[in-house]
Amino acid sequence: MAGNAAYDWDAFDSEDYLEHNYANLHDEDRKILNFVRDFLCGQSFDPETRGVDVGTGTNLYPALAMLPFCQEINLLEFSAANRNWLLNQLRHYSKNWDSFWQVLSEQEIYRTVARPRERLHRITTVRKWDILDPDPEQKWDLGTMFFVAESITSFHEEFTAAIGKFCALLRPGAPFAMTFMENSSGYEVGGRPFPALRIDVTDVREEMSGLGNGLEFHRVDVGAQPLRDGYSGMILVHGHVK
Ligand SMILES: C[S@@+](CC[C@H](N)C(=O)[O-])C[C@H]1O[C@@H](n2cnc3c(N)ncnc32)[C@H](O)[C@@H]1O
Repeated sequence: MAGNAAYDWDAFDSEDYLEHNYANLHDEDRKILNFVRDFLCGQSFDPETRGVDVGTGTNLYPALAMLPFCQEINLLEFSAANRNWLLNQLRHYSKNWDSFWQVLSEQEIYRTVARPRERLHRITTVRKWDILDPDPEQKWDLGTMFFVAESITSFHEEFTAAIGKFCALLRPGAPFAMTFMENSSGYEVGGRPFPALRIDVTDVREEMSGLGNGLEFHRVDVGAQPLRDGYSGMILVHGHVK
């Protein structure tokens, strides 16, 4: 059992994580992407919408999902290695993300973005951020946080804090989507162990009950080829911040 500060996040092996999780589009991510895309397409956004993704790591699909709706996207990441990886990718993201974009493009609004690489490069910035720090002044209009709250710590208090602070980044009424590994026992990246808190949908419901309106929970079973050992599925919650 250890908290967030016990791990060397700057030594996170971005390429290894990417290779393992996002070099190809896995069925579980396809299902999550479908739910998130359809949720976002059902919202109305004004032209000045600012989106935020917290703990982006080497996952560009939350940002791609927000792309047509935002004038600006901020990626908030604690790890120096992942921030460098993101800065490189934003110049011209790799081909592996095309299959993720294809799933999004099943909805027309994504097809109106003629050059997603250029648009992502133009509107996205990467910032150093610790989600466990005190609440900031600024507020965003739309937010995502994927596989972070339960995968940066094995302490329940930090899991609770990460979810609360993510919601506090968003203005009241802002749409959001968050995902979680279910029953994860931790994970290795480039041979280094990283923590996880074993949670299930009941834990997510409990955390979110005072924080969101119109909440919908989805559970996606582990696919035929699990991405890591020791987890039983993925959980998605979306809704609007109270
Ligand atoms: C399991 S990875 C998830 C990455 C990515 N969002 C995804 O969907 O695959 C956890 C991410 O949280 C970041 N992280 C760790 N501690 C953090 C903190 N205190 N504040 C913000 N991000 C943090 C890590 O660097 C890593 O990118």
